Amino acid sequence: MDQEFHTSQNHFKKIIQQQLERIEILKNAPLPTDYNKLDRIKVGIIGGDGIGPTITNVSQNILKSLLEQHKTKQIDLIPIPGLTIENRALAKQAIPNEILDEIKKCDVTLKGPTHTPEKGDGWPNIESANVSMRKKLDLFANVRPVRIPQENIDWTFFRENTEDLYAVGSQGINITDDLAIDFRVITTQGSKRIIQAGFNHARKTGKTKVTIVTKANIVKTTDGKFLETAQEIAQDFPEITLDSWYIDIMTAKLLDLKRRSQFEVMILPNLYGDILTDEAAEIQGGVGTAGSANIGNKYAMFEAIHGSAPRMVTEKRAQYADPSSVLRASAMLLEHIGFPLIGTQLNQALDICGNYERKISITGRENGATSEQFGDYVLSTINDKNLNNRWLEYIKN
Ligand code: IPM
Ligand code: MG
Repeated sequence: MDQEFHTSQNHFKKIIQQQLERIEILKNAPLPTDYNKLDRIKVGIIGGDGIGPTITNVSQNILKSLLEQHKTKQIDLIPIPGLTIENRALAKQAIPNEILDEIKKCDVTLKGPTHTPEKGDGWPNIESANVSMRKKLDLFANVRPVRIPQENIDWTFFRENTEDLYAVGSQGINITDDLAIDFRVITTQGSKRIIQAGFNHARKTGKTKVTIVTKANIVKTTDGKFLETAQEIAQDFPEITLDSWYIDIMTAKLLDLKRRSQFEVMILPNLYGDILTDEAAEIQGGVGTAGSANIGNKYAMFEAIHGSAPRMVTEKRAQYADPSSVLRASAMLLEHIGFPLIGTQLNQALDICGNYERKISITGRENGATSEQFGDYVLSTINDKNLNNRWLEYIKN
């Protein structure tokens, strides 16, 4: 018994030390990058695992073509190969050092899905590459838009991206054979910055309601801090109503046709955000239709919200994968680095090609279009002078 106490106390002590040090870093965080002031922006392209290389390749070609047409500043698209499960397993690192160095040379990255090892799947127990990148580059805001214009749904989720059960998710302990404990971390600084980001977004986009999602009635200390921090920050935004929901009823309310279109900006701790955004994406048309931005002050990373679909590769169907999610992420990337107009056009083209006209469609199999064919369809739609009219027609129908 003494031995178990000793070992677990030491383990807990280490976690506390790490997190207190992290708080000091958060207190001295760099100011956000102003992309308008940069005359050269480096965009890294990471293929990842499974269908990742196929779908990021389609996105890279579209980005290249669009940015060439709007050459107001130098944008370098830099492929960063090698962030694969095989290399990561070999290096026993979530992101091998030399790849992390390459990523850090870029301002922003577009990333395909990477395989996350889970117990019993044969890969070593390394941390997820997504989670590691979010933590290493301090990409604290996971911004996930979900829109269904016909239903008047325009949701933007601000999922906290570096704390909660994810902060030390790989550092739980088996105290005895029977007792397992994980740790949930919420800090004032970490809560403030995501909540402020959500409120600022609401203000900028003219939204009047911000919804905070927790389970503060049960998880009183950590969720309590998150909710309290939101209540304090809300004072600085008198024009915005703060609305608070618990995660369980919130998952139900996203299915409530009468209520769901009233939600606008939702701010959540990491794990609730992970779960709720999959549900929201499914409502929009599937996780393959949603993109995601991981934003920090210095760096940003844009990615699909789904996994690497290894089965599609083993069944030789990778070329039929739907690139929509990474293309949505590319639209967010364009907006983030100062090309909001092309970002909007890309979103409009995706609405038209994927949701409305569907001149060709992706089925994931050889009876459907390939990723590349779909990419060409999207690009020709963006380049059509009638893009906006076609999109307005979609909205009306
Ligand atoms: C997501 C994913 C990741 C997460 C996985 C792949 C580690 O589900 O981006 O939502 O849990 O955050
Ligand atoms: Mg998820």
